[in-house]
Amino acid sequence: MNLLDNKVAVITGAARGIGEATARLFVENGARVVIGDLDQAAAEQAAKEIDPERVRGFGCDVADPDQVNTLLAYAREELGSVDVVVNNAGITRDATLKKMTVDQFDQVIAVHLRGAWLGTQAAAETMRAQGTGGAIINMSSISGKVGFFGQTNYSAAKAGVVGLTKAAAKELAKDGIRVNSIQPGLIATEMTRAMPEHIWEAKMAEIPMGRAGEPEEIAKVALFLASDLSSYMTGTVLEVTGGRLM
Ligand SMILES: NC(=O)c1ccc[n+]([C@@H]2O[C@H](COP(=O)([O-])OP(=O)(O)OC[C@H]3O[C@@H](n4cnc5c(N)ncnc54)[C@H](O)[C@@H]3O)[C@@H](O)[C@H]2O)c1
Repeated sequence: MNLLDNKVAVITGAARGIGEATARLFVENGARVVIGDLDQAAAEQAAKEIDPERVRGFGCDVADPDQVNTLLAYAREELGSVDVVVNNAGITRDATLKKMTVDQFDQVIAVHLRGAWLGTQAAAETMRAQGTGGAIINMSSISGKVGFFGQTNYSAAKAGVVGLTKAAAKELAKDGIRVNSIQPGLIATEMTRAMPEHIWEAKMAEIPMGRAGEPEEIAKVALFLASDLSSYMTGTVLEVTGGRLM
């Protein structure tokens, strides 16, 4: 018996990085997965590489309500249900408060906060209609707990994701839908590889475990929150940081 047998998961931003690792681990645990990503070609490629039988790639901008609804409808029609939704898509547009443009602020809020809200709303609607409950996982960041220099947009969005998670958890508990969030620390992906060396080193110095995390180490926590192993948990925020900024 696998943890996600007969479950269908929609994971946004899963063409690469943490989302892709999560899609892979979910499939290894019995799920079928729809990858929703802005980069449709990369989503289709990832689906093919993970398991063409059990994974579909679909183009979707999480900031667009119609596209999010279409993604969920596609998953339900193509794979029969939607049992788990992971709102994971993300971007950074770092700049100090002095230099950040309104556009950089809006883009980051749109993808992370509006995107997670749209994904949560669409997931709730679909899961309620099925009447089978479900699990929603919103990807926050430790940046939303402590606030990072040069990330007023991203820290605000990621703190917002926590408020969204808790409020939605209260509204959806009666329908058997659990809503939880993860705050990763420094994880080795394309997003963090773009970082200048001295900033990477400064972050490393804050990590008691002395290393960056791997995408698979976030995926394992997402699997826990998606499965019955966390059946009595909702509205929680799990820090996965190697002890950084605890
Ligand atoms: N890497 C880290 O250290 C770290 C730390 C904390 C939180 N996070 C969060 O984890 C999540 C995944 O991060 P990652 O490091 O794997 O990033 P990544 O850059 O490797 O992957 C992000 C994916 O999201 C997709 N995407 C971007 N905008 C989108 C949109 N509007 N609609 C749909 N898809 C879109 C991209 O195409 C890409 O495939 C993000 O929410 C990020 O903020 C990452």
